[in-house]
Amino acid sequence: MPKTFYIETFGCQMNVHDSEKVRGMLETRGYSKVPTPDEAGMLLYNTCSIRDKAEQKVFSRLAGLKRKVGGKTVGVLGCVAQHNGEDIFDHAPHVDFVCGSASYTSLPAILDRVEAGESRVTGLALDTDETFDVPSVERDRPYSAYITIIEGCDKECTYCVVPFTRGPERSRASESVMREARDLEARGYTEITLLGQTVNSYRDPSPAGWSFARLLDEIGRLPRIRRVRFTTSHPADFTPDIVQAIDRNESLCDWVHLPVQSGSTDVLRGMQRTYSRDEYLRCIDMLKGADRTIELSTDIIVGFPGETERDFEKTLSLLDEVQYASVFSFKYSPRRGTAAAEMPQVPEEEKSRRLLVLQEHQRRIQLRRNTALIGGLQEALVEGRKERFDQWVGRTTQNRVLNFTDPSGLAGERDLRGRYCQVRVTASGPNSLVGELADAVSQPGFQGLHILN
Ligand code: SAH
Ligand code: SF4
Ligand code: F3S
Repeated sequence: MPKTFYIETFGCQMNVHDSEKVRGMLETRGYSKVPTPDEAGMLLYNTCSIRDKAEQKVFSRLAGLKRKVGGKTVGVLGCVAQHNGEDIFDHAPHVDFVCGSASYTSLPAILDRVEAGESRVTGLALDTDETFDVPSVERDRPYSAYITIIEGCDKECTYCVVPFTRGPERSRASESVMREARDLEARGYTEITLLGQTVNSYRDPSPAGWSFARLLDEIGRLPRIRRVRFTTSHPADFTPDIVQAIDRNESLCDWVHLPVQSGSTDVLRGMQRTYSRDEYLRCIDMLKGADRTIELSTDIIVGFPGETERDFEKTLSLLDEVQYASVFSFKYSPRRGTAAAEMPQVPEEEKSRRLLVLQEHQRRIQLRRNTALIGGLQEALVEGRKERFDQWVGRTTQNRVLNFTDPSGLAGERDLRGRYCQVRVTASGPNSLVGELADAVSQPGFQGLHILN
């Protein structure tokens, strides 16, 4: 039987990229990836345990498999694997192996054992000695690439499982990051996203000793890399030199994701976020003082233990003050082993109410801000196609989704995926823009990327 695998990924971009690493590793071993579980000899689930819902999704997926797996190998990877370990076998006895997010380097050894017929194989060490040089990564998209620059997390936010699932913080040597970036550039990638749970806490461990801002400068200078993003930044480590690097390098995107979690200093203290509302707002002022307009997005948790109505109102007023382009908001979800899970909880209905209020509040902000963009030109990197609407799906440098048509037939029959296009915005909603392909305006310093030159 040919060696085939199916992989489903839950969770954040770090998990998405880990799945690309796993795919590379498996393909080197003679496996090939198939698009549905039915066709596959091995089923892999790369899991997330950030909130209870995410974890439940994984367990219900595993429970649903029970009757169907006959003869297939099942592996659980990622954060649930790391956090729940061998308990997974009790929940889902048809699982053959679990391999945590910090143990991917031992995946080949795990597979040796599974292929030899062993069951209940585990790889759960928080292997902090890994080099970041994964021999082969099979990326999902041929134009946009993630690069891990820092793994794990040393912050101690009282609600969060990540330090348990991904282990302590460790940065990757700058030379290794640059090698991967240059290689991607040579292979035609034009967008790079630097990844880390606290990406801006990056400190080069090699004698070169680069700061995060220096790394941004060096990646930003690669001539054929048109867009550089980085996520996720932690406000406590957001230093002015990062904004200066953005000012210096046009390829650093006009977008920063800076999770605030709450607008109330009291709640931030309970969360151990290590900054106050005012300190956070000083970071925002710094970003608003940049040469270009940097759009901002954030994460918010409502109903953290002890959050009062007044605290919650402070979060709403922070939204008014910052005017984010987008907000990811969540109800606080108690996680096993974290300090906040032991604190007095806000009732579930109250959390649900606050979430709705917050989302409606932010929806109005986004609607107003997106409406102001109608009539203008935006550059979109095309990521997909909605055949049904005859639309291309792109993303602007400010990380807005921009769906557009080509009414004048400027692109002909060309597949625009991976191309940069100039688009005239014609309409907008709270979460995306709509537009029409316009004449391309070439930008100095970049060659051969626009569809019309
Ligand atoms: N390292 C990043 C993001 C971590 S997880 C950071 O520090 O910002 C992504 C988001 O999930 C967090 O920003 C937070 O808003 C949310 N989150 C984390 N733990 C959570 C929990 N227990 N309940 C609800 N939301 C949570
Ligand atoms: Fe979790 Fe806080 Fe670390 Fe982010 S900074 S991963 S929220 S502990
Ligand atoms: Fe989830 Fe793990 Fe990412 S818990 S959010 S997949 S780091």
